[in-house]
Amino acid sequence: MKILITSALPYANGPLHFGHIAGAYLPGDCYARFERLQGNEVLYLCGSDEYGVAITLSAELAGRSPQEHVDIFHAINKALFDKLQFSFDHYSRTTWEGHAAPVQEFFFALQKKGLIEERTENHLYSMKEKRFLADRYVVGTCPKCSFDQARGDECQKCAASYEATDLKNPRSKLSGDALVLKPSTHLYLRFDHFRQQLFDWIRSKDWKENVVHFAMRYIDELKPRAITRDSSWGVPVPGYPDKVFYVWFDAPIGYISAAQEWAQKIGDSRAWERFWLEPETKLIHFIGKDNIPFHTVFFPAMLMGQDRPYKLPDEVPANEFYMLEGRQFSKSDNWTIDLEDFFQHYSADQIRYAIASNAPETADSDFSWKDFQMRCNAELLGKFGNFVHRVLVFAKQHCQSCVPLAQTLDEEDRFFSTQMSALVKTAASHYSKFSLRKACQTLMELAHLGNAYFDHKKPWVLAKDPAKVPILQACIALCLECIKNLALVASPIIPTSAQIVWNLLGNHSELSQGLWNTIAATPLPTGQRLGESTPLFRKVEDVEIEQQIAKLGLKKNPQEIQMTVPPTYEPFKESIAYDAFDKVDLRVALVLEVEKVPKSKKLLKLTLDLGSEKRTVVSGIALHYQPDQLIGRKVVFLANLAPATIMGIESQGMVLAAGIGDSLELPFIDKLAPGASIC
Ligand code: 2FM
Ligand code: ZN
Repeated sequence: MKILITSALPYANGPLHFGHIAGAYLPGDCYARFERLQGNEVLYLCGSDEYGVAITLSAELAGRSPQEHVDIFHAINKALFDKLQFSFDHYSRTTWEGHAAPVQEFFFALQKKGLIEERTENHLYSMKEKRFLADRYVVGTCPKCSFDQARGDECQKCAASYEATDLKNPRSKLSGDALVLKPSTHLYLRFDHFRQQLFDWIRSKDWKENVVHFAMRYIDELKPRAITRDSSWGVPVPGYPDKVFYVWFDAPIGYISAAQEWAQKIGDSRAWERFWLEPETKLIHFIGKDNIPFHTVFFPAMLMGQDRPYKLPDEVPANEFYMLEGRQFSKSDNWTIDLEDFFQHYSADQIRYAIASNAPETADSDFSWKDFQMRCNAELLGKFGNFVHRVLVFAKQHCQSCVPLAQTLDEEDRFFSTQMSALVKTAASHYSKFSLRKACQTLMELAHLGNAYFDHKKPWVLAKDPAKVPILQACIALCLECIKNLALVASPIIPTSAQIVWNLLGNHSELSQGLWNTIAATPLPTGQRLGESTPLFRKVEDVEIEQQIAKLGLKKNPQEIQMTVPPTYEPFKESIAYDAFDKVDLRVALVLEVEKVPKSKKLLKLTLDLGSEKRTVVSGIALHYQPDQLIGRKVVFLANLAPATIMGIESQGMVLAAGIGDSLELPFIDKLAPGASIC
């Protein structure tokens, strides 16, 4: 089956936070990964939404051109998705040159059918600024919930969508000027013509109750809506030189232009049609609840108004809001999580798991640091990581680090095996119904099942009696099967750790390229060599969590806020001959001990193991790493730097770090032995 999956195109006018990730993005990525494992042909698309007056407004406030502004945030958001291991087949942007054509085609098709008309109606005008103000330049009182800081086109509190003229007490966002009504001409799309068709279509869907309910509320009140704005930043409206399309007219067509750009990228420019124009394709839009009206009513109406057989969405698994310690994420109040800082301490898998296990699927939910710590320590490390570790260590001691033969199974073994298979099926069913919370619960049930079986079978007691070796072997073979199933079930959510576990079982393939049913049904080959168990997850200490909680709400200085945009890059150094480089002796070094250097904020004293000898170095990384984040890790070390005395300590080499602006990160090498050369 072909499945086209989209995650809402984020506006490129600010950095994303975990609240966004929990709503429209992580659920989309996990689902795409799951469906690929099911053997389906998946096209997973996303990209930046770069037009609209929200962008011109933020760019104006930041003193940049709209293009400069979107270039910055497109890069920042794309980098965050990369960091979080997102598996988009393509990440597009609506300012790419191919986007305007399908938008204008939609317009012509709707116009040809008489569905677009010019209307002169009252619009909001600022006497002080001497201009009409389009939606986001306006604030006022929401006509639905009376929130008094509502935006001009949608209310950030109740997610209502309306015309700016529907606001009570409208004012200019920039000058605060009270706005007056003045006639102006715009193009209107006759959404009211689609009422019945939309009603019948939505009624036929088995969607979440809140999605159907929200959509139905809009259908009842559908009226013609302006699809143009007085602006120069947007897709031009043919025949109207001073107007551009309203961003919500062009943005969803971004899902089509992104598919077209992807098709060009793979060198088959019509490949997108197989996804967008074939009725058998399944189309799934992952969105946050604030985007429900546009994905279930307005965009479907635009699709229904085309002659080309565009797909309508089959599923719209909209999520509720994800908050931070009980409040909405807010950059201005620093009620947020600094992502640079976060990724220096924690991995993508830790946050992916923490979000997935508490995803806002049926009600608003919360990121809390305590919950994060519990998910990392009690669940990932305590249940999953611990089971993998104890089985591999036992297999090393008693099965020569190989998959043993499961010759005969007793009743308990068979029961364990049946329960394992049932849980793998249950997990698949949760993924297919977009329930990440339940998929996480099932993953933990599977780890618990494995631990309980291991505890009950007591293979360490069996090991004492040579006659019981076959029972021991069957037990370990089944535990290894359980680990395989854990890797499989975990892989859509924590792909990096799942792959490590897959490799530890002696597999050399990419787990994400495999097939769910085949992996579940195929036992690990007897005799397959197992890897050396390495810690999968780090323990998150109480003190770190207290520090993180203390940071919430603290105001940053303006310089730090500026750092959310990329700093200027260092120019490249002049080129050198290979001989010069060859003199540099880089080695893998294991960090044995770390101490703070007294009277210094920035320096740490490290004791390193280079295999053949130990070294002491002083390194300026104390602002970026706590000692316990370094002990046991392997770093890149410059071994033949002449010693230097720093704060009275002889530093015998240098630990290498990557840095840009104020950010710093150490590259870690985890698999190679200390002393390995790097060249
Ligand atoms: O709410 C948002 O972030 C919008 N930029 C989502 C657009 S989704 C799609 F239609 F492009
Ligand atoms: Zn409202």
